[in-house]
Amino acid sequence: MGRHIAGLAVLASVFMLPLSLGAQSRYATAGKAQTDAELRGETFFNKTCFLCHNPTGQTKEVGVAVTDLVGLFKRPGVTEEYVRMRIQEGIPRRMPAYKYTFKPEQLDRIIAYLRIR
Ligand code: HEC
Repeated sequence: MGRHIAGLAVLASVFMLPLSLGAQSRYATAGKAQTDAELRGETFFNKTCFLCHNPTGQTKEVGVAVTDLVGLFKRPGVTEEYVRMRIQEGIPRRMPAYKYTFKPEQLDRIIAYLRIR
């Protein structure tokens, strides 16, 4: 019986391996989206924000110099109000303002995703 369970555990980890490897190669350190809001926020982030906020360093080469926003909410002093304001107002000549593009629920999802990123 004990061996049977151990065998199942090995089987399970073999099946899980490609999944976790895939996730790791896409984002080096980002958290894993799980809830509906986080998953939708992640898709949205990859479409809209990843162009500038990516960990590849290419943006640094072209002089955009942008953080990948991984662990943003773990930084001291970073509040939801600040992040909302930044996304809505953007940064003149550097980051677009999204206040007229996003519906409130889209902004909520992107915040949900940034919290775990
Ligand atoms: C055209 C490039 C560009 C796009 C697209 C863009 N940003 Fe930015 N963003 C910047 C720049 C430049 C900064 C300021 C420099 C930095 O943080 O490296 C910035 C800063 C931020 C900050 C503040 C980070 C901090 O450390 O205080 C947040 C939050 C942010 N962006 C969120 C987003 C989100 C969410 C999206 C997608 C909806 C997005 N950005 C899309 C260029 C962009």
